[in-house]
Amino acid sequence: MKKFFFTLIMVIVTLKAYNQSSVAMVVDATASQYTISRHIYGHFSEHLGRCIYDGYWVDPSMPVPKYDRIRLDIVEALKKIKIPNLRWPGGCFADEYHWRDGIGPRDQRPTMVNTNWGNVTEDNSFGTHEFLTLCELLNCEPFIVGNLGSGTVEEMSKWVEYLNFDGISPMTNLRKQNGRDKPWGVSFFGIGNENWGCGGNMTPEYYVTQFRQYSTFLKNYPGAPLRRIACGPSGGNYTWTDVVMAGLAPGGRGNLWGIDLHYYTRPPRGGFGQPQGGQAGQAQREGAQGQQQQQVQSQGSATNFTEATYFGTMRNALRIENYIKGHDSVMTKYDPQKRVALVVGEWGIWCDPEPGTNPRFLFQQNSLRDALIAGTTLNIFNNHCDRVKMAQLAQTVNVLQAVILTQGPKMILTPTYHVFDLYKVHHDAKMLPVKFTSPDYVYENQSLPALNASASQDSAGVVHITMVNIDPNKQITVNITLNGVKWSTVTGQVLTSAKITDINTFEKPDNVVIRKFDGARKQGEMLNVVMPSKSVVMLELK
Ligand code: AHR
Repeated sequence: MKKFFFTLIMVIVTLKAYNQSSVAMVVDATASQYTISRHIYGHFSEHLGRCIYDGYWVDPSMPVPKYDRIRLDIVEALKKIKIPNLRWPGGCFADEYHWRDGIGPRDQRPTMVNTNWGNVTEDNSFGTHEFLTLCELLNCEPFIVGNLGSGTVEEMSKWVEYLNFDGISPMTNLRKQNGRDKPWGVSFFGIGNENWGCGGNMTPEYYVTQFRQYSTFLKNYPGAPLRRIACGPSGGNYTWTDVVMAGLAPGGRGNLWGIDLHYYTRPPRGGFGQPQGGQAGQAQREGAQGQQQQQVQSQGSATNFTEATYFGTMRNALRIENYIKGHDSVMTKYDPQKRVALVVGEWGIWCDPEPGTNPRFLFQQNSLRDALIAGTTLNIFNNHCDRVKMAQLAQTVNVLQAVILTQGPKMILTPTYHVFDLYKVHHDAKMLPVKFTSPDYVYENQSLPALNASASQDSAGVVHITMVNIDPNKQITVNITLNGVKWSTVTGQVLTSAKITDINTFEKPDNVVIRKFDGARKQGEMLNVVMPSKSVVMLELK
């Protein structure tokens, strides 16, 4: 007995000396019920700043491999992470976009002013055909968002006919005249974007009526049933979800497939923000007006931040789990069988634009901190895949939490890109429930759960575990019991760096990249993992 206590004390002393904590985890393959849809790993690209123009779609003189004006280096990078879907054309832009302006000979397309994003002139050279060609090159599914805010029922209904009808019709003829014989069969279709704000400042009751009307005239053409996605809430606006679900729940009118929640992580202003629950400022910032103000007020630098700001930012990032649980429970009142998907159509960190860039272009750098947010958020989505069936990170190239940044012909992959690369093993795999009590990441007198994780088993029986240690100072030893899994080897990959502020630059593109992980061992039937501080780890068990 004396010996046992002596050993225990020695273990505690050793852990403290090495600045680490220890946790027991169970990954339970016998309790697996749900599949992680690959569509959780989707992306969002808006006509905003340099995402489309000078992002995907470049000047013909740009010395990079191209298909038409689409950059193929970007396409190849996104194919490597198996991008499953792409949401377009917005965002706020969607509710002022008129699709007919973006078809036909490019030199005859009308221009418009992109009033949301810097009043720049939109030349409409990237329209329906160009977007769907991009999706074909990427081998991903399009998710098109229609204009409910300033368009008409006729306009949206004709767009669907143009996209999806193969019979004889005016829209089929027009599509053929524009060079596309067969319809594309677009399935994911959003009926408006943020209609509580930039998409028309509507009440949820008014939006429901609008949705029903629009939905009625968006037809399911042969072989092309639509998955209709309603504008969802921002953050913790449960009233919006309640009213929309009450008006459009399964069995009711509207043929609702999903409801599109938006949540951005903002660095706290001053100090390290408010503890969980003290969200008055946060809620106000998430409202439509808050959103508009946010775009001009300071958010916090993407690269130059203290541990205090990091702590507050991670707390804000972790809030998404409570929002998902909250919206799920409201949805479950109307839809206990979870037929309606919670789509997280816009998520990611929103920082100050890089100094010297157009503030309305939302170009921000991307640090290890952002990768930790991505890994954490994707673990949360995986663990809630019974309800979260689709999500899009905002926004793929050169805008907000981008996975790719470009500068002329140069292109870099951000730390966030590498998280999507690590996590692609979860696409369409069976989710395995993970149980553990996280050690705390303590900053001053406040704490956050330091560790988060998710696990899955693919169709070949291979188990993957992804874990994130958000503590920037301490490693964590994780002792994992695997129920119902036969395995004999473990390999791993890790994303980490010396500092949470570390970034990839055009000069040093491989500063923060995936490396081989040698901190995992099989010990009897257990898996022992030493998670480095501020790291994302992916383990493969065969
Ligand atoms: O992603 C940038 C903007 O954020 C989108 O246009 C809008 O939907 C949201 O407010």
